Amino acid sequence: MALPLSSSILPLLSVTLFIGILTFIYYKLLRNYLHKWFVMKPIPEVAPTYLFVGNALQLKTNAGEFFRQVSEFTQDFRNAPLIKLWLGPQAFVILFHAENVEVIVSSSVHITKSELYDFLHPWLGTGLLTSTGQKWRQRRRMLTPTFHFSILTEFLEVMNEQAEILVENLQKQAGKGRFNCFNHITLCALDIICETAMGKKVYAQSDSDSKYVKSVYKMTEIISRRQRMPWFWPALIYYYFGEGKEHDKTLHVLHSFTYKVIHERAETMSSIESDNENEDGSKKRRAFLDMLLQTTDEDGNPMSHQDIQEEVDTFMFEGHDTTAAAMNWAVHLIGSHPEVQKKVHEELHEVMGKSVRPFTVDDLKKLKYLECVIKEALRLFPSVPFFARVLLQDCQINGFKVPKGVNVLIVPYALHRDPRYFPEPEEFRPERFLSENSVGRPPYAYIPFSAGPRNCIGQRFAMMEEKVVLASILRNFTVESCQTREELIPVGDLILRPENGIWIKLEKNSV
Ligand code: HEM
Repeated sequence: MALPLSSSILPLLSVTLFIGILTFIYYKLLRNYLHKWFVMKPIPEVAPTYLFVGNALQLKTNAGEFFRQVSEFTQDFRNAPLIKLWLGPQAFVILFHAENVEVIVSSSVHITKSELYDFLHPWLGTGLLTSTGQKWRQRRRMLTPTFHFSILTEFLEVMNEQAEILVENLQKQAGKGRFNCFNHITLCALDIICETAMGKKVYAQSDSDSKYVKSVYKMTEIISRRQRMPWFWPALIYYYFGEGKEHDKTLHVLHSFTYKVIHERAETMSSIESDNENEDGSKKRRAFLDMLLQTTDEDGNPMSHQDIQEEVDTFMFEGHDTTAAAMNWAVHLIGSHPEVQKKVHEELHEVMGKSVRPFTVDDLKKLKYLECVIKEALRLFPSVPFFARVLLQDCQINGFKVPKGVNVLIVPYALHRDPRYFPEPEEFRPERFLSENSVGRPPYAYIPFSAGPRNCIGQRFAMMEEKVVLASILRNFTVESCQTREELIPVGDLILRPENGIWIKLEKNSV
């Protein structure tokens, strides 16, 4: 007797569905993963790695501890050609030897940032830092002229003014014992970037309670925490169990601020477009934002306000936290090396004499030793302690095959400690960067601003700002550091910062 149709088809359908689901899971989720797992087997691993979980359970979730852990891996494996690490399903190879770093960083193919940068997208969109492919190439071409030397020279005025306010604030601390200078310097950097990027004064140095200022810091912490916790990567889990709501609240503050500034500036520009002077006859200062509002692509199309917002938010993030951290580390190092500080003071005296006038471009060019100090501080404490790309095609690194889809983590913090190129790497020796001592050092052994096609577009801006601010501090004060190197505890969120700030004493220089 024939079975009813439903009872003969149902089991068949269920089996087909089951096989279908398994096939889908295999092709969509497992095949690539298992391929990477087997191809990468020969690469030394930082710790025993478990299928699917990877090293996620061994990795610390606290920013400071995580950073220490990664730097320990690179020290323990100093002689290994490269090492691998699995963060849940995500594979990473970690590079910290100049010759391996060069393979990736100099390439015009491997220009795509790792998926870890996706967590920056809600804030920065796909601006210059996070975009890739044609969009990145076109934007880079459009934005490069905005960092032209002549424009940087205009920004020097803002840097001098803000550095002067910083010095006034520091005067109040001089001769009064130890204090934490981290926020003073950071707020100065924030004032500089707000005025140069948006043409907007935020008076951060006088109003550090600004909601925008606080939200910038909160956002970098929130993003970096999520990057270290793969279980919070799926949006649903993040919003139900993680910090999703806090993330969105902070984002709202950040975007509303830049949105308002851009629209106000666009309106003022169109109403007085041809007017280059202020009411008092002084020359109007340009900001990056003005140039973005005037920039057009090859076909003559202007950037939309949303495109501009991505870039302004990117400059605001990349353009102040990095310089602030770098200047703070430099202050600590100068204050703990009196012989270095003496040379900086002597150089400043030679270039500026007793004058208190603002620094000019020519003055800055002559501050050669200070430049070596800044470079050496960035070697020991690179503001961006690691950055990551994803491979768009299989690649050979030091004889190992690294498959497409793997993330490559480049660690300047470890790269800069290679004793082959920086003997006694923990020692602070600015002389390493005198031209006669740099001969023969491979170009990719020192990359605080990254290198190759995706290097930092703001590096000349950054060097100029650092020189003006540090020279202004040292022209007025003698610094004494109150922490040992061990007490600093570097924390690598997105930016490398000292866990407990930078504690110093200041004495006013005799005139
Ligand atoms: C000491 C200060 C600075 C350091 C150490 C630094 C370092 C870096 C590094 C390492 C990268 C590559 C990041 C990556 O690949 O993920 C980068 C990219 C970038 N930086 Fe900087 N930076 C500094 C200051 C600045 C300033 C002042 C600005 C803007 C005013 C800026 C704007 C950018 C932008 C837009 C990118 C993306 C460039 C691209 O991908 O084409 N940076 N920076």
